[in-house]
Amino acid sequence: MASKQSANTESRGHTAPVPPEPHENPTVGIAPSREENIGQKRLADFDLEGRVFIVTGGARGLGLSLAEALVETGGKVYCLDREERPDEDWNEAARRAERCGGSLHYCQQDVQDTEGLDKTIEAIADKHQQLDGVIAAAGVQQICPAMKYTHEDITRIMDINYTGVMMTASAAARQMFKYKCHGSMCFIASMSGQVANKGLISPVYNSSKAAVIQLARNLAMEWSPIRKDGTGGIRVNCISPGHILTPMVLKNFEEVPGLREKWEAANMMGRLAETTEFKGAALFLLSNASSFMTGSNLIIDGGHTSW
Ligand SMILES: NC(=O)c1ccc[n+]([C@@H]2O[C@H](COP(=O)([O-])OP(=O)(O)OC[C@H]3O[C@@H](n4cnc5c(N)ncnc54)[C@H](O)[C@@H]3O)[C@@H](O)[C@H]2O)c1
Repeated sequence: MASKQSANTESRGHTAPVPPEPHENPTVGIAPSREENIGQKRLADFDLEGRVFIVTGGARGLGLSLAEALVETGGKVYCLDREERPDEDWNEAARRAERCGGSLHYCQQDVQDTEGLDKTIEAIADKHQQLDGVIAAAGVQQICPAMKYTHEDITRIMDINYTGVMMTASAAARQMFKYKCHGSMCFIASMSGQVANKGLISPVYNSSKAAVIQLARNLAMEWSPIRKDGTGGIRVNCISPGHILTPMVLKNFEEVPGLREKWEAANMMGRLAETTEFKGAALFLLSNASSFMTGSNLIIDGGHTSW
């Protein structure tokens, strides 16, 4: 029995690494003290001036809105996306960025290209000698009955929605450890990681999002404690949105007649969300305002999963 168990356990070294003991490595000092913050500046806990962030899937849609939230509060934000050029919406956001002290940058980068992703993230961190956080929003959806799924389709969706998030997070964590930046990561999961969606057959997308929620808990355990050498102190959380009006969902409406009306009636607000309605949550998670939050999942779904 014991030998079977060890044969199924894979680790990179001779002895399996264990996560740091939080009690011996407490995450203290990641936010300025109350005395330093209060009365100096309005809502100083949310201020991101001088901080550097990466947002995958930032060419459009939800990723772009969340990137803009970080820019509006002073962050230098790099949007990574597989598209050669971002949407026109992105160009407008970049023009607005000039007025608020932050900056918005674009890099074409597919999250499936692990080596390229690693190099892009390393170059950004090296340029600024810091990296303070990541929002992993790149994702794809496919509507397909379970019995018709091909192995290739499952592999592609998981490769982007799950492995892409994991590789983004680990590439960023390597840089944050290198520069001893205590920071925060936010993975864009979905309420579909916890429920099946009425009227939409998407078993693989939904399970990829469940995997992302579970990944966040595990990375939070590994990276939240601050080690004796000053590395660590990276909080990891998820946002699980309900249905949002983005290009991804508008495509779903074209594919499934009547779906929009069905979804609008399925939450307590009687409507779908705008991408801008998640900006506050992203800013909260990436800033000092959430300094005691890690391993959690913020569900923001207009009450969809609450009844
Ligand atoms: N729209 C919703 O209702 C909804 C709800 C819950 C969660 N989400 C999640 O929010 C995130 C953003 O989705 P959206 O609705 O804005 O969709 P979207 O299609 O408008 O945006 C997704 C972005 O990810 C990029 N992308 C896809 N594959 C990529 C890859 N391999 N490498 C790099 N970039 C890649 C796309 O080019 C696009 O810019 C996704 O993770 C999605 O699953 C969306």
